[in-house]
Amino acid sequence: MRYTVSRFISLLLTLLLLLSGCSGGEPSEPPVSAVPSDFPIETSVISLPDVSTEQTETIVLTDEDLHKGDLLLVNRNVYYDASLCADEVTSVREGRTTQIQEGTYQLPIGKALLSRLETMQADLQSATSADIVFLVNDSYRTMDAQQAVYDDLLEQYGQAYVDQYVAPVGRSEHHTVLAADLSFYDLSSGAILATTSDGAAPYYAWLLENCRKYGFILRYTTEKEAITGYSAESWHFRYVGVPHADYIAAHSLALEEYLEQLKSTSFESRLTIQTDRGERYSVYYVPASSGETAVRVPKGDYTVSGNNVDGFIVTVREE
Ligand code: DAL
Ligand code: ZN
Repeated sequence: MRYTVSRFISLLLTLLLLLSGCSGGEPSEPPVSAVPSDFPIETSVISLPDVSTEQTETIVLTDEDLHKGDLLLVNRNVYYDASLCADEVTSVREGRTTQIQEGTYQLPIGKALLSRLETMQADLQSATSADIVFLVNDSYRTMDAQQAVYDDLLEQYGQAYVDQYVAPVGRSEHHTVLAADLSFYDLSSGAILATTSDGAAPYYAWLLENCRKYGFILRYTTEKEAITGYSAESWHFRYVGVPHADYIAAHSLALEEYLEQLKSTSFESRLTIQTDRGERYSVYYVPASSGETAVRVPKGDYTVSGNNVDGFIVTVREE
């Protein structure tokens, strides 16, 4: 039996607004586009294993699990308590194994996120033959830290500015261990290069083109301002995992749009994603029940993430 992927309808939305600076301290930048023009990924309909004979088991997930994983949605409408992932946090200084830099002393960051950034950084260095590392300006923020950022920028730039660029407390991706505000640091010269500065051009071009391969997306783009609720931020990268970053980039989606589209999938009718690195995945959504949710999963290589709202996303590595 063959199963085909649900076809998704993309939202038609193109907004061309100029952006200005933000909490990353990078004023007057040009519009940011999430997707390189010649994007190679293949996400066409492919056949899946016969799910009627697929070896499966049932796992039971709780309300707590809804707030764990790589595909959490946090935005103006969706709350997340930073204490939920506090035990996954280290500092760049304590946790690093490379010369990756921190914007402030002992900057808090998720352990796994730091490691992922360092992996991507190694390939950035090889690809550009440059003595370049990431400088993480900000990553994990407690509720108090977000309040401090909000208050500080409100005082400096006023209400209109914070409404554009700063999440209210409890509504920031920085409460998770999945977001990082990035600049570059030239180890040879000691120069700090903001993402869209002239000096960063080759490194930022590489990052925009390749971050999806490491599971990252540019979270706030000019085109999606009406959906994300924030002005574009060239520096704010969000980990969602492979293959989701591939799909989101290939189809020019906001994370909000992608997670909404996944709700039309199920165990029997999955989204299939084939990356340009020869990997194949299938992805499906399971709505949460109150209390406990029984989730049917294949025996084998899969991960599960809550969406922080109303369900779970299962990601299966097919080959
Ligand atoms: N600058 C982003 C929107 C935040 O404050 O989380
Ligand atoms: Zn940010």
